[in-house]
Amino acid sequence: MSATITLPPASRLQALPKYVFARLEELKAQAVAKGADLIDLGMGNPDQPTPQPIVQAAMDAAGNPENHRYPTFGGKKAYRQAACDWMARRYNVLGLDPDTQAQALIGSKEGIAHLSMAFADEDAVNIVWSPHYPVHARANLIAAGHIHNVVMNEANNYLPDPETIPKAVVAKTRLLIISYPHNPTTAIAPRAYLEKMVAFCRKHQIVLISDLAYGEIYYDDADKPVSILEIPGAMDVAIEFHSCSKSFNMAGFRAGFAVGNPEIISHLYNVKTNCDYGLAGFIQDAATVALNRAEDFLPDICTTYRERRDVWVAGINKMGWNIELPKATLYVWMPIPQDYENATVFCEDVLAKTGVVLTPGSAFGQHGEGYVRTALVAPKERLQEGLDRMAAANIRFS
Ligand SMILES: Cc1ncc(COP(=O)(O)O)c(C=O)c1O
Repeated sequence: MSATITLPPASRLQALPKYVFARLEELKAQAVAKGADLIDLGMGNPDQPTPQPIVQAAMDAAGNPENHRYPTFGGKKAYRQAACDWMARRYNVLGLDPDTQAQALIGSKEGIAHLSMAFADEDAVNIVWSPHYPVHARANLIAAGHIHNVVMNEANNYLPDPETIPKAVVAKTRLLIISYPHNPTTAIAPRAYLEKMVAFCRKHQIVLISDLAYGEIYYDDADKPVSILEIPGAMDVAIEFHSCSKSFNMAGFRAGFAVGNPEIISHLYNVKTNCDYGLAGFIQDAATVALNRAEDFLPDICTTYRERRDVWVAGINKMGWNIELPKATLYVWMPIPQDYENATVFCEDVLAKTGVVLTPGSAFGQHGEGYVRTALVAPKERLQEGLDRMAAANIRFS
């Protein structure tokens, strides 16, 4: 008799639609097995190396026996201080207390997931703008909560009005998640919009989460992203998630931090003490260097993405699209041609004909359907090669 376990996982986990990136992995593996030379613009996984001083700091810190022990749950004082100093330098958010208003994270995804657990209940609702980065909704769905999607699209200029959310939903809402600059649509939010969101969440006693993973990837000073904590009154209701992954090409390090309201931070801390042991000490030391010397690293990283963005958008527009240059993030968001049934079919066709990997918008929830996202995570020459292959395969926007 086989002893292999057949017990299914929790019904909440079974109910989740398959993670589209997992499906993409399978398709990519099949294409590689057939000898395809993939140009992978699927995941937002930066291809450039981490700046050398940060790598060096990690290597030096790995030799320090203090870092061989469990880290503290909240994070090293030096790292939390670096996070607060960065918030002051970059966003003019002054006087954050590193002990109570900052939390080290094993990447911001971890923090968002754990905060969702802190507030999930059978009768509670989380509001997410949609399309969205999957964890904004899925962590809550796994943790027993319920999601209310609010559509962001061209019609509302990607800035939905919270006052349109049904009152019955608002009454049950614990968390509302926004993220500008936005993955996948690349939308940015003006300060006035953030003011509106803070006022709404204060009025209804809702925890406002700002995911600022792309806060440092922007192309013009006029579009410089704003921190939610810059908004007067935000500190009463808000927490903001920051990531080193895109800002410093550190996705593999898994380093981020949260800053904001001390009560909300304490709930996040509480979940983390029960679920993990905190961010590795040597990674914190490296991330401290990244934050303290951010101005040395960020301009080159943004310049690289700007050049790639220009090449990609020019090429794609030659194929019949009419895409404006994105103002922030490392993505380009485009509608699929009309003759395709859906975004997944379009991506499968492009992959089969050209070896170029794109992400179907449906990876970001049902409201991303009909669109496709390009991540600018390959050198200009490879992007051009991808464009040439698409043109040769007669992939056109119609
Ligand atoms: C909007 C958004 N938030 C958070 C993350 C996760 O970042 P981290 O690597 O810090 O976990 C990503 C990663 O792509 C993202 O797109």
